Amino acid sequence: MTYVVTDNCIRCKYMDCVEVCPVDCFYEGDNMLVIHPDECIDCGVCEPECPAEAIKPDTEPHLDAWLKLNADYAVKWPNITVKRDAPADAKDLDGEEGKLEKYFSPEPGQGD
Ligand code: SF4
Ligand code: F3S
Repeated sequence: MTYVVTDNCIRCKYMDCVEVCPVDCFYEGDNMLVIHPDECIDCGVCEPECPAEAIKPDTEPHLDAWLKLNADYAVKWPNITVKRDAPADAKDLDGEEGKLEKYFSPEPGQGD
């Protein structure tokens, strides 16, 4: 089992999650983060910290595609452990449907 970052992280990217993870298993893309599924120890601490409610346990249904996206990009993007400011329009984007199709960027973020 692992926790998974899902759609609503895209362009919200609040980054509260990175500060609480005991094993530093978040990786940063240009406009979202992912969790490395082999490094996550399933502690669950990050889930309630995300203001966008974008982090889910993979025991929830219909998360296979998100689990694959997290696994694929965790090995391509840099590790991130220090929170920075969220995008200025994060609140406007919070809750918008279909962010993956509209906004996902495969480009890496800057990392720590
Ligand atoms: Fe890190 Fe725990 Fe969240 Fe996994 S569940 S990403 S180990 S804080
Ligand atoms: Fe994304 Fe939530 Fe973390 S919006 S960056 S998963 S705090």
